[in-house]
Amino acid sequence: MQQHLTIESKLISTLDDVTPAVLSAMAGTQDPRLRTIMESATRHLHAFILETRPTEAEFETALQWIAALGHHTDETNNEVVLAADVLGASTLIDLINNDGMQGETMSALLGPFYRGKAPDCSCGDCIARSKTPGPKLFFKGRVTGVDGAPIAGAQLDVWQASPVGLYENQDPDQDDFNLRGVFRTDADGSFHFTSVKPAGYPVPTDGPVGDLLRAQRRHPMRPAHIHFIVSAPGHKTLITQIFSDTPEALAGDVVFGAKQQIVGDFVEHREPHPDYPDVPLPFFTCEYQFRLTPGEPSYPVPPISGTKS
Ligand code: BEZ
Ligand code: FE
Repeated sequence: MQQHLTIESKLISTLDDVTPAVLSAMAGTQDPRLRTIMESATRHLHAFILETRPTEAEFETALQWIAALGHHTDETNNEVVLAADVLGASTLIDLINNDGMQGETMSALLGPFYRGKAPDCSCGDCIARSKTPGPKLFFKGRVTGVDGAPIAGAQLDVWQASPVGLYENQDPDQDDFNLRGVFRTDADGSFHFTSVKPAGYPVPTDGPVGDLLRAQRRHPMRPAHIHFIVSAPGHKTLITQIFSDTPEALAGDVVFGAKQQIVGDFVEHREPHPDYPDVPLPFFTCEYQFRLTPGEPSYPVPPISGTKS
């Protein structure tokens, strides 16, 4: 009789019983960080459900939406990363882990289109590997520590969308690795490369994230930018984007990724320039100094691996 009562007292009978029962079931978690994260996630998830009291049909819709994120993820598109981005989760994680307080360049989202394994380039190379529309861009800069001392041999992994608004892996008209390349700084920390002026582009809207944006009457646009991963021994790896767009486009970034400190000074040249003879007009130049803080280098796992087979 006594045993019967004990078992019965552990069974769920009201809403209030569920959260403690789940927390108790997870109490044996060995890894303390996993335990902290899952306990907090459970408490917040349950509080959210109790606040919004979804219907069963709404719950089914939510589960289908999450499953669709997986179904729309393949070697060329990562819908899970995109969902984290449009919900602002990626920017919160970015700001928690990269506050820029040491004087280093501010970071920005990796995004879902980093492939890794881009071709090695020499300074001055053009990353437009196939015919790419748009004005030419001459990008030059330096990589330094927060003290301004040059970092020789720093690696810059660069990628951008073409001015038609697509990354090469999304676009059969672009060659493999078009607008992607890896550069290294010279002895004085300098680097330069040629490309085309980036344009703003819409994030993919043919999956569940697009459905959500439409339901929320949100536009899908990102302001124009170029992605950089800047790494060097003894320094924390910087994942960032250098932006070039109007204040409205920067403020309206669908993934909340634009920050003032990483808006580049893209100068439009409408007259011939002696340093850039025979370049069709208009063309653009941009100069930017990346500042790295001391730390352990690390490298992100690419969210995608390549083009559709
Ligand atoms: C990107 O900049 O490549 C990007 C970032 C977040 C979502 C979609 C695209
Ligand atoms: Fe991008």
